[in-house]
Amino acid sequence: MRMIRKRSGTRGGGGPARGRLRAALGGATTVLLTATALAALPQTTAHAADTLGAAAAEKGRYFGAAVAANHLGEAQYAATLDREFNSITPENEMKWDAVEPNRGSFSFGRADQIVDHAQGKGMKVRGHTLVWHSQLPGWVSGLGATDLRSAMNNHITQVMTHYKGEIHSWDVVNEAFQDGGSGARRSSPFQDKLGDGFIEEAFRTARAADPNAKLCYNDYNTDGVNAKSNAVYTMVRDFKSRGVPIDCVGFQSHFNPNSPVPSDYRANLQRFADLGVDVQITELDIEGSGQAQATNYGNVVRACLAVTRCTGITVWGIPDKYSWRSSGTPLLFDDNYNKKPAYDAALSALGGTPGDPGDPGGPGDPGGPGDPTAACTATYSTAEQWSGGYNGKVMITAGSSPITGWSVDVTLASPQQVVSVWNGSPTSNGNVMTVRSTWNGSLAAGASTSFGFTVNGGTTPPPQVGACTAS
Ligand code: XIL
Repeated sequence: MRMIRKRSGTRGGGGPARGRLRAALGGATTVLLTATALAALPQTTAHAADTLGAAAAEKGRYFGAAVAANHLGEAQYAATLDREFNSITPENEMKWDAVEPNRGSFSFGRADQIVDHAQGKGMKVRGHTLVWHSQLPGWVSGLGATDLRSAMNNHITQVMTHYKGEIHSWDVVNEAFQDGGSGARRSSPFQDKLGDGFIEEAFRTARAADPNAKLCYNDYNTDGVNAKSNAVYTMVRDFKSRGVPIDCVGFQSHFNPNSPVPSDYRANLQRFADLGVDVQITELDIEGSGQAQATNYGNVVRACLAVTRCTGITVWGIPDKYSWRSSGTPLLFDDNYNKKPAYDAALSALGGTPGDPGDPGGPGDPGGPGDPTAACTATYSTAEQWSGGYNGKVMITAGSSPITGWSVDVTLASPQQVVSVWNGSPTSNGNVMTVRSTWNGSLAAGASTSFGFTVNGGTTPPPQVGACTAS
């Protein structure tokens, strides 16, 4: 379980926030729920392979999605994210223009929102991206060489320090090579003013800032063996031979009919892995539809699994409607969050079981998170966490009809105990607490409410939250 760490320049960890929350809950119901019957806990592994994240985890990989902070409030978006993925890349929120719009003035709010969401769900976070010619504020391109060098190093240091220990892999440098057959570096303020050495300098600065993050070079049109990927390969080989800190290479993998999945995709991933770096598929989307798109997705997933050092896959969005290339419908979920054939192909390639009926309250099952037709759905998140306990939050969302009441079972593992519940009425039976609506039972179609509870006695495993039952 991730600990929510204190970040520089933002609110701290659980302490003060918890204090405020408790103070606001003067009327909270107090219950003591002792969890002793560990053996009776649902086996989370029994249906582990019916989501992308769980199936990937069984193969020792992560399966992530690019996430936009402004969609997190949409119930189906959050439910699909939380159900299917175990890694998040902020789609735009960690880019230079978002976090340092003016020199020396950092704004991490929207990126923090994504990181907090990920941590509440036990998901990992990929950092994207520190040094890139695009989405770069004008003030950076206006600097002279000396100032630019210190601004670049300061940017890397400040951003990585803010998220120190919270990011599994960082795209330190993005898209530094030209397209086409030249194998040359792309013109950018960094390249033009600092020369080839800026990439190496960025990686050295990054290693010093967060020694535990994997440091990646990330690019597109490098997915097969070609002049551009050869140029990146030569750079990585040189870095490895001279001890320049690099741990991974990201292959964006934006595919369409003009730029299809290359037939030597696996071989290309493997030759990079053979240099002694991890490889990651970082921004996967494949324009198309139906079986053709599904076959491509399956091939990409199989290529990653065939390369031991391919540590994970990130798709560049969740439903097609929010894709940066939405007209090409390149993602795994349609505009209504239905799983596309491409989803089934990706899940099957991961060794998962599409359409597994699973347990009735399980992810994707009736009443479980992400079921749009259920009378109500329940989605769990950890709101705050501290050493020895946490506040849990369960979001209840009515389906396509109004409801007048709801109930949800929450199962805890010994020695965890629920010490208080708010916005819901609890009864307990062994290690299972049933929470029913109080004043907040009437919900219009699609409307949401939530209840919360405080647990003492440890932070792992997270509670098991069952299906929502409406009345
Ligand atoms: C894209 C985002 O998806 C868009 O929302 C934004 O307007 C432009 O950037 N390569 C990258 C990503 O490394 O950061 C880009 O993301 C897609 C191409």
